[in-house]
Amino acid sequence: MATSNREIPKKALRSTRLFDIYKRTAFVGEYAWWRVRGKPRPKVPHLVKQRTLTEFAQNYKLEVLVETGTNLGHMIGVQKDRFREIYSIELDEWLAARAVRKFADRPHIHLFQGDSGTVLPKIVPMLKERCLFWLDAHWGDESAPIKQELECIYRHPIRDHVLLIDDARWFDGRGDYLSIEELRQHAAREYPGSVLEVKDDIIRIYNPASRR
Ligand SMILES: C[S@@+](CC[C@H](N)C(=O)[O-])C[C@H]1O[C@@H](n2cnc3c(N)ncnc32)[C@H](O)[C@@H]1O
Repeated sequence: MATSNREIPKKALRSTRLFDIYKRTAFVGEYAWWRVRGKPRPKVPHLVKQRTLTEFAQNYKLEVLVETGTNLGHMIGVQKDRFREIYSIELDEWLAARAVRKFADRPHIHLFQGDSGTVLPKIVPMLKERCLFWLDAHWGDESAPIKQELECIYRHPIRDHVLLIDDARWFDGRGDYLSIEELRQHAAREYPGSVLEVKDDIIRIYNPASRR
């Protein structure tokens, strides 16, 4: 994809370590401002999402995180010391290369460039234990490989992975998106005993009986 003149300084800025430090502080500010405004919905701050992943990882003793949609690597940055292994897939070449540079000193972080609809089915068969999936590879109505992602996860022999799907507000059955009701039916069929909840704009599919 061609890079416009305006994007070059933006990308240069986003490549710096200072930008990551700024974002870590900005997440807290964004969260505080959101609370001051009375927690407006449906969009929630990234800090709420970070805390949701941490809560499920702790409650379900999950040591492997699989993320689709690396973006600037903010979720990996926050979670990197919590998980034994992290897998993340990013479609955009520049973002994927940036993440490779950013986490070069972390051999437990495995980064892939490509469409998660085709890359995830290659990663999932390698997984040997219950994992936390953070399915976040979508941009409005432009791209949503959620059907392919779920298909390969549900085909895996481990039947109680924890699935967190971001941006619940887009899941209305239009375009590439399944509706919440379709997701509920799939989960009930594929993961018997699981529940599907929607909270803080995150769809959560998990089996309460697997909590440790
Ligand atoms: C909302 S951002 C992800 C944010 C990140 N997960 C976090 O929590 O910090 C969505 C990312 O998904 C990527 N993306 C969109 N479609 C994709 C696809 N089909 N495969 C992989 N990545 C995709 C976009 O380029 C974008 O970087």
